[in-house]
Amino acid sequence: MRTDDPAHLGDMPPAEFRSAAHAVVDLMADYLENVASFPVFPPIEPGSLRPRFPSSAPETAEPIAAILADYSALIEPNATHWQHPGFLAYFATSASGPGILGEMLTAVLGQNPMVWRTSPIGTELEQVVVDWLRQALGLPVEFDGLLTDTASISTLIALAAAREAAGIDAAAKGLAARPELGAGLRLYASTEAHSSIDKACMTLGLGRESVVHIPTNARFELEPAHLGAAIAADRAAGRLPLAIVATIGTTSSTSVDPIAAIADIAEREGLWLHVDAAYAGPVAMLPARRAPFAGWERADSIVINPHKWLFTPLDASLLLTRRMGQLRAAFSLVPEYLRTLDRETPGRDYNEYSPQLGRRFRALKLWIQLRWFGLEGIRARLEAHLAIAEAFASWVDADPDWERLAPVPFSTVCLRWRPVGRDLDAATLDAANAAIMDTVNRNGEVFLSHTRLSGVFAIRLAIGNIRTEQRHVERAWALLREAAAEWGVP
Ligand SMILES: Cc1ncc(COP(=O)(O)O)c(C=O)c1O
Repeated sequence: MRTDDPAHLGDMPPAEFRSAAHAVVDLMADYLENVASFPVFPPIEPGSLRPRFPSSAPETAEPIAAILADYSALIEPNATHWQHPGFLAYFATSASGPGILGEMLTAVLGQNPMVWRTSPIGTELEQVVVDWLRQALGLPVEFDGLLTDTASISTLIALAAAREAAGIDAAAKGLAARPELGAGLRLYASTEAHSSIDKACMTLGLGRESVVHIPTNARFELEPAHLGAAIAADRAAGRLPLAIVATIGTTSSTSVDPIAAIADIAEREGLWLHVDAAYAGPVAMLPARRAPFAGWERADSIVINPHKWLFTPLDASLLLTRRMGQLRAAFSLVPEYLRTLDRETPGRDYNEYSPQLGRRFRALKLWIQLRWFGLEGIRARLEAHLAIAEAFASWVDADPDWERLAPVPFSTVCLRWRPVGRDLDAATLDAANAAIMDTVNRNGEVFLSHTRLSGVFAIRLAIGNIRTEQRHVERAWALLREAAAEWGVP
């Protein structure tokens, strides 16, 4: 029976699935083998792809061979190649081979670990993997947790729990028409904190105005004295502080907030402390490099993204907390059809700890990956990335025409071209650096992104892709210097 026979119902026949799956695996292996031959960013303009697709879905079935041919012609070359070793923009999200195998098996098992009985293995392997990661990160046994899709959702869940922990029962009563909440609820994070904190507050009904952005020092680290003063001022004005978010590895410069001093303030003020270590968290797997994390074990919740610097295919975010009960208070709602009737001690029902019901079996890819690399293998790759970043920072420091714009605590370097002996004003320097980055990116061998630090345009080179080696960063440096040498030449 063929799928193009209109009488055929049901799924793709097993024999066809098998041969198509082999073809897909070949495409996948070819892609990983050849990914460096693509320009990291495809040389196309917005809107140029949509017209290449039919304007409506096909009425009749098409053979898989035709579909895969179009995948090769239309899909693959028009992707931004996050898997490319020259992908040095944003924070890397690279999918390791074992992680990809995990995604394949996740898809075929089709698990939904929303309650224990809908996926006993999905539920209990999540508990296993969360605890493996907790131990590897050097965090105490009081931390439990769950896997979510992104750091944005992990943070949203943590802040919802913080709201419940403050005893205002927003889960039941909402926040509208509650004069007893005073002049407003408040959360504190530095001016360098990720936008996901503000977005969580938009979603939780707290509003962006509830986020107090605390100034940082010259190293882009939150200033505890300003934090203490802001909390005191809010209390004096009748506002209700709920939580502090501290970051280890901010998005622009990867600065590290002084966690221990912030934990002291959180403790003194009775506030929930959430630590955003979405990018830098994996470095805690290196015992000799744990100094920036000192004090994070005192947090109420911590987020780390395996899909950033642990080479796990998107999506995988780890939310650890010592207060699972507060997550449950924020999200548990068990309708009759989800109740477990036939077990004295039902297993964990993960849906009670997060806003969504259906959940992906994310633990499988992490289990496969952690076993295939071993913690040793992961540590060696992280050390290699840190060493490449250190080397790159030293090249920048040694070149008088270039300026490093922030310390490099991890694997991200912020820099700009600022040639000696040429009196370029601030706007011209910004424009020159934007043009230099654009020239480098158009070359296609590497891909960089930018930010602003202390008001100036900064080119950002972030290492974290599992396929990046020192030679790729050497090439990026050569391209940057070539583009700078050509800047302004008619
Ligand atoms: C420090 C930090 N927190 C949170 C996030 C958001 O991560 P996600 O895309 O998983 O929501 C990012 C993204 O880069 C980040 O840098």
